[in-house]
Amino acid sequence: MQRTQVVIIGAGPSGLMLSLLLERQGIDSIVLERQSRPYVEARIRAGLLEWDTVELLEQAGIGPRMRREGLVHDGFELAFGGGHHRIDLKGLAGKSMLVYGQTEIQKDLADERERRPGAVVWEAAEVRLHDFAGDAPRVSYRHAGASHEIRCDFIAGCDGYHGISRASVPRDALREYERVYPFGWLGVLADVPPLSEELVYANHARGFALCSMRSKSRVRYYVQCPLQDTVEQWPDERFFDELAARLPPPHAARMVRGPSIEKSIAPLRSFVTEPMRFGRLFLAGDAAHIVPPTGAKGLNLAAADVRVLTEGLVAHYRERSSGLLAEYSARALSRVWKATRFSWWFTTLMHRFSEDPFEHKLQLAELEYLADSTVACTGVAENYVGLPFTAG
Ligand code: FAD
Ligand code: PHB
Repeated sequence: MQRTQVVIIGAGPSGLMLSLLLERQGIDSIVLERQSRPYVEARIRAGLLEWDTVELLEQAGIGPRMRREGLVHDGFELAFGGGHHRIDLKGLAGKSMLVYGQTEIQKDLADERERRPGAVVWEAAEVRLHDFAGDAPRVSYRHAGASHEIRCDFIAGCDGYHGISRASVPRDALREYERVYPFGWLGVLADVPPLSEELVYANHARGFALCSMRSKSRVRYYVQCPLQDTVEQWPDERFFDELAARLPPPHAARMVRGPSIEKSIAPLRSFVTEPMRFGRLFLAGDAAHIVPPTGAKGLNLAAADVRVLTEGLVAHYRERSSGLLAEYSARALSRVWKATRFSWWFTTLMHRFSEDPFEHKLQLAELEYLADSTVACTGVAENYVGLPFTAG
């Protein structure tokens, strides 16, 4: 039987980041991932990083390409009522965001993981967590037809919303909070120049739209769509027509169309599990919480969990102090709930929930208020760039 200090379930951004940060502090880990490396790297997901996330990724050792290729954004636009208003993130909250796709982060993390000591087992099947309520947890799995078992001090459940870690905890030991939104986001990736230098979030009577990007020559555009829609119902022409209809006319006129290279529909959900620790099992990232993508918080929250968990594990091994680990769940959840609130609020403000014109009028009134009030915009900017960490 193998032994390591921390078994990490899942090689998404949370799992790989945690493993690299621990390795830099001299803490051993083994990462078990159900999928193959190419499969994990092909998933198109988040695109926008808070500055704290950028710095954490740098500590994990993946700085240079991100700094070279990432696009620094000092603000974004809110489009509504035929016009638009810029939120000056840098001016109001003192921080910028970085556009750098999760696919690139995933590649950089896996490359760095391969360069450093420590292992990732790709295509690990039947991963099972044992005895994490006691002092000697174990993780079993199958790989290339053989059974394996690893003894460890701790297990980090970084295996996303559908993972095995949260599902392994007795039902009565956790409480789950959930809101499922009655629509999805249809996303398209295309190799055309972005219509604006910054992101544009649009509120329109036809529904929400977002113009994001991955680089100066690749866009990621979204429109709100019914949950039951399929991508087959959305040929490129229909998608771009609908997007143009939801943007202010000058924005729509600037939009360059091109063939989609990826198209998918994502449901929107808010979900939080409490607590995020059970004995020697710690949940991090999407395994513990999901936010709707409107606030661009999913990946950033995952990084924040990893940072808090790393601090706790380092204190445990270096200083033989369990205080920070004991506080992990409470510290992580305080940030999680604030991001859950912001993501819910921004989603509610920007999407069409019903046919009721009263609702749309209220949204427009709130957007106009934002446009007129520096104080209100400052609140949005502070949340968007990421709230400060509370002292550990
Ligand atoms: P994940 O990225 O889900 O990684 C979990 C890993 O665990 C996966 O590789 C999975 O294969 C593995 N795993 C699962 N089960 C097992 C098992 N039993 N054994 C071993 N391994 C297992 N966020 C944004 O900020 N903006 C966006 O636009 C955005 N779009 C998204 C679109 C989609 C379709 C999804 C699903 C998420 C999106 N997110 C977005 C959220 C963001 O991508 C996540 O918050 C982020 O991926 C969380 O990282 P993670 O490592 O915690 O989880
Ligand atoms: C993206 O680029 O995919 C993206 C950007 C900002 C969001 C959501 C998604 O709020």
